[in-house]
Amino acid sequence: MDSTKYSLADFIDIPDQDIMGRARIFAEYTEDSRRRGHAHFRRVSLDGSGPTMQVIDPLTGKVNEMIYMASNDYLNLTKHPRTIAAGRAALEKYGSGAGSVPLLGGTLDIHIELEQKIAKFKGCEAAILYTSGFGSNCGTLLAMLTEKDVAILDLLVHASIIDGCKKTNVQYFRHNNMESLERALKKAKDKYRTKLVVVDGVYSMDGDIAKLDQIVELAHAYGAYVMVDEAHATGVIGANGRGTPEHFGLEGKVDIVAGTFSKALGAVGGFIATNKELVQLLHFYSRSYMFSTAPTPQATGSLIAALDVIETEPELRAKLWDNINYFRKNITSLGYDIGNAETAIFPLIIGDGFKVREMCRRCHELGLYVNPVQYPAVPERLSRLRISLMSAHTREHLDRALEILEHVGREFEVI
Ligand SMILES: Cc1ncc(COP(=O)(O)O)c(C=O)c1O
Repeated sequence: MDSTKYSLADFIDIPDQDIMGRARIFAEYTEDSRRRGHAHFRRVSLDGSGPTMQVIDPLTGKVNEMIYMASNDYLNLTKHPRTIAAGRAALEKYGSGAGSVPLLGGTLDIHIELEQKIAKFKGCEAAILYTSGFGSNCGTLLAMLTEKDVAILDLLVHASIIDGCKKTNVQYFRHNNMESLERALKKAKDKYRTKLVVVDGVYSMDGDIAKLDQIVELAHAYGAYVMVDEAHATGVIGANGRGTPEHFGLEGKVDIVAGTFSKALGAVGGFIATNKELVQLLHFYSRSYMFSTAPTPQATGSLIAALDVIETEPELRAKLWDNINYFRKNITSLGYDIGNAETAIFPLIIGDGFKVREMCRRCHELGLYVNPVQYPAVPERLSRLRISLMSAHTREHLDRALEILEHVGREFEVI
């Protein structure tokens, strides 16, 4: 099999193959891709997230120290002494697991403390915790929306939102385009019971920010609610790192604030912050909450400390923004197209999936860990390398990464 002739989309379904046949054919594709040095997925780390990371080379099996620019650990809280100490203390006090689902014995006092802390941080009345951000988006939407309702989604929302809308009607609007949103709202106006506009605060593949001020105004004018997924915004944007509502001065005005604990907050899990009544409804009707064991004590303890760190160590966010501004200035002056990126995520738009894979291979060889994003995740003409920055990247890390990207960009004639 010549893997360069295919994309992941070709294996979603293979006519005349049952699941095992499909898996065998897909294995041929991944093996050829690995041989070509294009196996950039599931590269194995020996020391976890940090500005550099020890990575096993998928081709040679050797361990290389690489500059790591693919993490969502924006503030490096995965290894902050306070998050580690608090996680360790919770592990020792409560054990390695919560032991049960939250409604039937799994709720610990630290879960309540984290719920209250994240609700306050997000300017909402109450919050509910989940064991993943995917589960919180998906489980909440499935609990809220039925065939009588409609979800009005930005075209680029996260997969967890799309999967959560499988039981309801869906209308898409063009990415961050207010005319398109208004058309969708008009169309939905008298047709559905609950109308819910769902957007990401910061878009995960593009690093741009939702026009949340206009979105909230428009949605409310048409009788729709707004849900914002703060996965890549929490800890990064807003004067105090409280995310997109804070960035636009809208705290307390967004109906449902969703988020994950797995990115800037440095652990794992998800949350929904909203009003008390809706949180209580989700306790009983959100299946990924009700039928899933409560978050681990260690993650919960670490997350309480992570929120304290965000509040008391603003210098981490300031350093992240220094890095973002420095990198943006230099990467654009090299001639790369970064679209509308404004946060810690940088797409380097190349527009050719094969070139992206080859560039990623060369970056890997030169010691820079970045990710390829290709069709079907984005249209082929928007294939890109995706880079994300952290506060712990030093000027030397950034300069070396820029040097590698300049070298590779010239080699493949994209700058
Ligand atoms: C925008 C967005 N929402 C939700 C999620 C899911 O979060 P989690 O990784 O905690 O499941 C992710 C990423 O993984 C994301 O990028």
